[in-house]
Amino acid sequence: MKATAKAHTNIALIKYWGKRDESLILPMNNSLSLTLDAFYTETTVTFNRELEEDKFYLDNEIILGDQYTKVSKFLDLIRNYADSPLFAEVHSTNAVPTAAGFASSASGFAALAAAATRALDLNLDNQTLSRLTRQGSGSACRSIYGGFVEWEKGVEDDGSDSYAVPITPQDHWDVRVAAVVLSSDMKKVSSRVGMKRTVETSPFYSGWVDSIPSDLMQIKTAIQNRDFEKMGKIAEANCQKMHATTLGANPPFTYWHDTTLTVMQTVQALREKGILAYFTIDAGPNVKVLYQPENEEIVHQTLRKIPGVSNVILSRSGQGVTYQ
Ligand code: PMV
Repeated sequence: MKATAKAHTNIALIKYWGKRDESLILPMNNSLSLTLDAFYTETTVTFNRELEEDKFYLDNEIILGDQYTKVSKFLDLIRNYADSPLFAEVHSTNAVPTAAGFASSASGFAALAAAATRALDLNLDNQTLSRLTRQGSGSACRSIYGGFVEWEKGVEDDGSDSYAVPITPQDHWDVRVAAVVLSSDMKKVSSRVGMKRTVETSPFYSGWVDSIPSDLMQIKTAIQNRDFEKMGKIAEANCQKMHATTLGANPPFTYWHDTTLTVMQTVQALREKGILAYFTIDAGPNVKVLYQPENEEIVHQTLRKIPGVSNVILSRSGQGVTYQ
């Protein structure tokens, strides 16, 4: 009735942007990510006959409101799957404070799904676990696996063929990622709201979807060949293309802050000096920078010095879900 699991977050190199089914969380396009070792969530789930409702604690604080509802609804799915009426107490800790501005939904839902299904003795294979996790948060389905992972959008209406698959062993390639945390806050459009608005109103959206198969094919070849420059170029361009769709939405919006742009330009300037580094950005102002191990020092020092940057956290490729 009790289990503990740990899951790492992931950064998408080919972004998931837009749903074809909002309630099942089915994406419009395949996406591809790298799991990161520096950011993770550890979650213990205990199902208990005595409980009259679920309880959710994050970093030892009880959570109520929207965040609680999301967790409890996700537990409903698992209860349904296991045919169990029991409520649960959930204790999660995030390795990097949520306040650092990194959404932890990917590691959060992956750890929750793994711990809850294990606590109910479901013993799911990773494919089934990924499919289930997807319904908590889309990008979380990729965090079941380590290394480079592709989320196959699937074609079925019931979501049965929409799950993540690892495309390399975790130790395939030592690519590093610097997570650049900006000091200023910006009013946030959630990924859910941002995607919906973009799909429904942006004239650029169809161009985004049409361009994915070619980006995916090329980046997968680059990853297999450990071709850093090619992988970085495709990832950086794919990120900018995704963010361009938001500027075409009605009303238009952007996740970028002025410092976001400064970081992007700094990364491009590093390349002009012969240091290969590439950026990518999710649904927020922070930037992740891809680099090779030999450039760690220069990349780290350069990013730290940018005014408006509060922290730079270095990460390697991380592993998939583990249990204690
Ligand atoms: O899974 P969500 O709802 O957190 O959406 C993630 C969307 C992006 O981070 C922008 C892209 C991605 O593939 O992770």
